[in-house]
Amino acid sequence: CGIVGYTGPRQAYPVILKGLKRLEYRGYDSSGVALLNGGLHVYKKKGKVADLEETLVGKNMEGHIGIGHTRWATHGEPNDRNAHPHLSQSGRIAMIHNGIIENYAQIKQDLIAKGYTFKSDTDTEVLLNFIDDIRIKNECPLEEAVRIALRRVVGAYCILVIDNEDPETIIAARKGSPLVIGIGKGEHFLASDASPIIEYTKEVVYVNDYEIAIVRPDELILKNLGNEKQTPFITKLDMDLTAIEKGGYDHFMLKEIFEQPHTIYDCLRGRLDAENGNITMSGIQKYAEQIINANRIIIIACGTSWHAGLVAEYVIEELCRIPVEVEYASEFRYRNPIIHKGDVIIAISQSGETADTLVAIEKAKEQGAIILGIVNAVGSSIARASHAGAYTHAGPEIGVASTKAFTAQLAVLTMAALTLGLQKGTLERDKYLLLCKELAAIPEKVDVILKLDSQIKALAEKYKDAADALFLGRGYNFPVALEGALKLKEISYIHAEGYPAAEMKHGPIALVTEQLPVVFVATKDSYHEKVVSNMQEIKARKGKVIAVITEGDTVTPTLADDIIVIPPAHEVVAPMLSVVPLQLLAYHVGVAKGYDVDKPRNLAKSVTVE
Ligand code: G6P
Repeated sequence: CGIVGYTGPRQAYPVILKGLKRLEYRGYDSSGVALLNGGLHVYKKKGKVADLEETLVGKNMEGHIGIGHTRWATHGEPNDRNAHPHLSQSGRIAMIHNGIIENYAQIKQDLIAKGYTFKSDTDTEVLLNFIDDIRIKNECPLEEAVRIALRRVVGAYCILVIDNEDPETIIAARKGSPLVIGIGKGEHFLASDASPIIEYTKEVVYVNDYEIAIVRPDELILKNLGNEKQTPFITKLDMDLTAIEKGGYDHFMLKEIFEQPHTIYDCLRGRLDAENGNITMSGIQKYAEQIINANRIIIIACGTSWHAGLVAEYVIEELCRIPVEVEYASEFRYRNPIIHKGDVIIAISQSGETADTLVAIEKAKEQGAIILGIVNAVGSSIARASHAGAYTHAGPEIGVASTKAFTAQLAVLTMAALTLGLQKGTLERDKYLLLCKELAAIPEKVDVILKLDSQIKALAEKYKDAADALFLGRGYNFPVALEGALKLKEISYIHAEGYPAAEMKHGPIALVTEQLPVVFVATKDSYHEKVVSNMQEIKARKGKVIAVITEGDTVTPTLADDIIVIPPAHEVVAPMLSVVPLQLLAYHVGVAKGYDVDKPRNLAKSVTVE
C-alpha cells in the first residue's frame, strides 16, 4: 500500500492526490483520503486513484491537513468499505495503514466484547478502535494511546492517524513498512517513499522501526515506543522530478526498458575502469576477506530480484568458486535455515522494502551472517539493515514489472564477482580484464537491441492470442528464460513457464502443439549446441519457435519460426542483453491486448506484507 499525509498552509487534497498517483505502483485496489476542515471528512473508493478523483470532482475538498492511501488488499476484498482511511467508532479518529496486524483477531474479540462493531473486514479498523479505546479509557492524548497500542501489536505497520479535536497534528508510526517525512518551511509531508515529496522539499527524515512521529506544520517530534525523544536524522534527497515522470513514453515500463543503456552505465560509472582493469566497490571490498573465505553464499530475494540471484549463482560460482544457494526469502525465513557464523548473505531487492526479504536477512543477521544488500532504493529498509552492499543506481522504477532494476542488479553482481574472483585468485587476470571490457560494452549493445523495438512489436501482434507460452534457456540464460516468462505473465496474463531447456523433456514437452509459442534464449555460449538440439525437439513436435540468437549464428535461423538477433557478448554478461528483447516482447503483448501494463491486475511493486 502507499500512504501520503500533509500538514501545513497548502491545500492538503491536491498534494495528497498527486502523491497517491506517484505511489500507485504500491497497490491500486482502492484508495481514499481523510481531511480535517471543521470536521473529519473521509472519502474512499474501490479502484484506482483516478476513480476516487472522479467521484470527488465538484466536492468541497478544502483542508490544510489530511491523509491518503492507495491499497493492495490483504484483509478483506477490495471494495469501498474496506478502503482506507477508516474512521473510529467514536467518529473522532481517522487512520490509514500499510502492513498486517497479525494478532488482530484477539484484539477484535476483546473489542467486540466491549461492544464495538466493525464496518469493514480489515485489521486496520481493529487497530484503530484499539487505539481509540485506549485513548477514551485512559483519557490520554492520541499520541500516548498510539504508543500503548503499538506495544501490544504483533505485525508490520506504517500508520498515519488524525484527530478531529487536534486539527494540526498527524501521528505517524512505523515498524517494517516504510515512512519518509519531508521537511518544508512551516509544513510537513509524509509518504511511503520520497516520490510524493521531492517537488516540495529535498530534506527528508527516514523514520525508523518502533518510532512514532508527532508531526505539526512547524514541528516534528520523534519518539520511540518508550516515549523517549529521538533526534531526527535529516537526509538530502538525490533525485529529481524527471526520474519519476513518463517523459514522453506511453508507459513507465517502456521508458524504463529504454533507460537501460543509461542505467547500466550509471551503475558501472565510478566503479568499473575497464581500461586499467580496476573495480571499486567499497561496500563489497570492506568484507572481501570474509566473502572470499566464506564456506558459502546464500542469496535471498523475491520475484525478478530472485532471478538476478540465479544468474549471480552461475557467475559467482564460476568466477569465485564459492558455493552459492539462491533462496526465495519467504521460504528461507520460515524453515529454520542452517546458518553458520561467517556465512555471507546477499539480499537483492529493487525497493529495499520487500517484507519477506527484510525479515529473512534480520533472521540471518541474528545468527551471525554477514549481510550484503544489493538494493536500488537509497535509504530503504533493506539497505539500512545490511552490513554493507552496493546500490544499483538505476533510478526510481515505477512500472510494476521490474526491468531496469534487473539489469542493474546483474551489473552490480557481476562487478562484485569479478573483483572477488581476482582477489581470491580463482579468476585469472586476463579473463578478468576481458570480462571488465565485456561489461563496459553492455550499455552500447543494449542500445542496439532497443532498435529492434518495432520488430518485436510485430512479433507481439503475431503471438498475442496464445493461451500459453514456454521460455527455455540453459546456463546463464536459464534464469533469463524464467524472467521472460514472469514478465509475460505479469503484463499480458498469458500463462507462461520458464524452464531449463533440457529439463523441458521431463514435462513441459507434453504441452507442445502447433499453437504453443516456445521462446528460446539461444545466444552463442558454451551451451549453444545443446540448446539447438532442444530446439529440434520442439520443432519435431510442431511447436512455434521464437529464438533470441547472436549475430552471425547461421544454424538457428533455419530452425526457428522467428528470430531476434542481438550483438555477441561473453556468456557471463550475456543475460543483461538477452533479457531485453523478452522485456519488450512482454510489454508489446500486454499493450496489444489492451492491458494497463504499468499497473497489472493484483500485483504491487513493493510488497511490504508477508
Ligand atoms: C513484487 C514486484 C516484482 C519484484 C518483487 C521483489 O512482486 O511486483 O517486480 O521483483 O516484488 O521486489 P524487490 O523490490 O524486493 O526487488
